[in-house]
Amino acid sequence: MSSNKDDKLFFLLVSDIHGSSAKLNQLIAYCQKNSIKPDYILCLGDIVSIPQGSQDNKPICEEKQKEIKNLFSLLESICPNIIYVPGNHDPQTLFKVEESPKITENSINLHLRSHIIKDDLLLVGVGGCICAVSSKEEKDFCHSYHNIDTKKIVWPGYPYLDSNDSPDYEKSDEILRKDLNKIDSAVDNHKGNVLVLSHVGPFTSNTSNEFEDVLIYAGSRALNDFLIKYENKIIGNVHGHNHDAHGMGKVHKIKIFNPGAILSKRFGTLSLVKNTESNYNWKVEKYEQINLIE
Ligand SMILES: [Fe+2]
Repeated sequence: MSSNKDDKLFFLLVSDIHGSSAKLNQLIAYCQKNSIKPDYILCLGDIVSIPQGSQDNKPICEEKQKEIKNLFSLLESICPNIIYVPGNHDPQTLFKVEESPKITENSINLHLRSHIIKDDLLLVGVGGCICAVSSKEEKDFCHSYHNIDTKKIVWPGYPYLDSNDSPDYEKSDEILRKDLNKIDSAVDNHKGNVLVLSHVGPFTSNTSNEFEDVLIYAGSRALNDFLIKYENKIIGNVHGHNHDAHGMGKVHKIKIFNPGAILSKRFGTLSLVKNTESNYNWKVEKYEQINLIE
């Protein structure tokens, strides 16, 4: 049986906009020039840039929701279907599962929700981040997980943060673990395949680690465990947060994709295909990392 259009899905992966409409305009021009016409845009958080500690401020939330609406309107000129998770620099209101504001008519907030996108493919999402940590030695130039000092917090988490004054890496990850339990049954009960959208990446994927004066380990162990628990149905995890750790990684056999920050002119495209000849499973056909370096 030959494949038809219904057996394929094409996503544009855009993350860490941080309020830059200028970079979105460059993205729009690139997509027009190269005839990139996605079925969906997956937007992976940090849409705007609220400083740590102000994400709960009501006037700031209202102002930033309007900014997000404008940014989504730009993205919708590429494709009207946006599915997103909020990041740690986005308004607290976007993390409210029961009463999250509608940003634009078509956009879908996937934080702690699930959404059947096509046939038997389920999307689940979790926004925000936990604390990121560094290594024991200042001059540690290689990624060595045994050398991590979980007391060395380099970035605080949001909303996954146990304390503003003395944040704890393990505790912030445990709060995320509890939230992952809220989407566990959706994945468990689903018969087909699953794609996971998150802002933070999984702990052991290279797409969650980067260098910024010190080595930074920003990934979540709870997310690792969640992916591995359902590795027979989860075909991929797309995430953002780490601007410079763009590209592809793996957790066991699950493919991990971090398109990098559109703020740094990085994004990705992801093609999924359904194997109609044998097992009818969805699989990743192609990932393309695009870096618009001047
Ligand atoms: Fe982030």
